[in-house]
Amino acid sequence: MPDTSRILCPVLSQRIMSAEEAAELIPAGANVGMSGFTGAGYPKAVPGALAERIRHLNAENTKPFRINVWTGASTAPELDGVLAEVDGIEMRLPFQSDPICRSRINNGTMDYVDYHLSEVSQYAWSGFLGKMDIALIEVAGIREDGSLIPSSSIGNNKTWIEQADKIILEVNSRQNAKLEGMHDIYYGTALPPNRKPIMLTDPADRIGEQYLACPPEKVIAVVETAAPDRNSPFKPSDDVSKKIAGHILEFFNREIELGRLPKELLPIQSGVGNIPNAVLEGLDAGPYKGLTAFTEVIQDGMLKMLKSGTLKVASATAFSLSPDGIKEFDENIDFYRDKIILRQQDISNHPELARRLGVIAMNGLIEADIYGNVNSTHIMGTRMMNGIGGSGDFARNGYLSIFVSPSTAKGGAISAIVPMVSHVDHTEHDVKIIVTEQGLADLRGLSPRQRAHEIINNCAHPDFRPALIDYYERALHSGRGMHTPHLLEEALSWHQRYEETGQM
Ligand code: COA
Repeated sequence: MPDTSRILCPVLSQRIMSAEEAAELIPAGANVGMSGFTGAGYPKAVPGALAERIRHLNAENTKPFRINVWTGASTAPELDGVLAEVDGIEMRLPFQSDPICRSRINNGTMDYVDYHLSEVSQYAWSGFLGKMDIALIEVAGIREDGSLIPSSSIGNNKTWIEQADKIILEVNSRQNAKLEGMHDIYYGTALPPNRKPIMLTDPADRIGEQYLACPPEKVIAVVETAAPDRNSPFKPSDDVSKKIAGHILEFFNREIELGRLPKELLPIQSGVGNIPNAVLEGLDAGPYKGLTAFTEVIQDGMLKMLKSGTLKVASATAFSLSPDGIKEFDENIDFYRDKIILRQQDISNHPELARRLGVIAMNGLIEADIYGNVNSTHIMGTRMMNGIGGSGDFARNGYLSIFVSPSTAKGGAISAIVPMVSHVDHTEHDVKIIVTEQGLADLRGLSPRQRAHEIINNCAHPDFRPALIDYYERALHSGRGMHTPHLLEEALSWHQRYEETGQM
């Protein structure tokens, strides 16, 4: 049952209504800024009611009713899934991982703008995205003065609330009331030329406010909900992910021995996905104590590291927990409260902060080429998987950028190491280390030709290694440029072969 004790502001308690009534207030063509980041803190009721309304309207009218959906990052079936199913989204930004959205993006019925997550807020402020009509934000409570207790993610909520003409709030009493006080909302951002240094020098620093400021006069509806965040469980660590974690641990230990990393490492960032989560489990089994995380999401692996003392503090913008992880967090929130700080995504992922702190960035890849360029978003160069998310924010600006993947995909039909990537998200200049279950390629200080040897020999699967060596050798002796040798007519032939035969 909804818990009205979460709505303490007298003015806003007058605006309580049903999700269906609130959905009526969203007009066709609106730019709607929604809360939500990796399956946490997204609105749970109004998007579904809006999808129903769109379904009826579109059955009756010839002019389709669609809206533009801006969020923090990915959400869940109750938001992206239901709206995409009724073809209710004209344009989506800045990240998604929903299967229905993905198929609409790839069949051309939905436009998608894939942005670095730290940059979305400044783009919204700069104005070229257009005016935000409505912010639809899940919160854990409304205080007497109208300020908001944020939910299990912050994402772009501060910006949406400031930018939108009108605001709809979903107050979710299922979110743990003890989330109050875990957030740190920084009100010192500005557009250039008025920016000032952000005075954060340790992941544990608090530089802002615990609550989101919200002008009550902009709030047009308050909807009560009581549904949980929904995230898929992580796949258990398998042999491949354990080997990848093992190579990374060995690398860290060597860097510590050589005096190039402190024994507490540097603040770690770990991306979404099964492999990065498994790497965290590997780290937890290692010899480390008192590490810190300056990252985007808190996965199950990070809770375990906090519990064991491997990690002492984690700064992020959202949780990304499996159902078991949510249970663990809820039952032990008193333990976690002072060890986790949630910030808006333009601060959690800020390039200035990632560079100052010297973040160790660990993210997944779809494919890497023999010279170290990485594709983390596109299948065979054309089909969107999820999006770049925060990987570029951290990889480009961190101290060490590590990319991880199994060496093959689809039962061995696809090599993750290819002659030339079919799409580039992270260039050879940003990628420092590549790891597969086969081994680790440390690309720091190496020329392109040296990198090719390191990547092919250490990371490629033995089934594909001879063909990669053959490509490289022929490119090297082709009489063309020797700096980054390529056979242009053949560079993407592996992808073409896969499209034609189902096997690279
Ligand atoms: N070609 C085709 N499909 C491929 C592939 C390739 N080269 N490499 C991986 N895949 C497929 C896998 O088969 C799997 O598909 P399935 O779910 O149908 O089996 C899927 O991609 C995920 O691969 P998996 O090996 O399980 O890795 P993951 O869960 O760690 O995800 C990324 C890898 C790259 C998709 C993921 O890390 C991502 O979206 N990254 C971009 C965003 C990001 O890095 N954010 C980090 C900041 S939080």
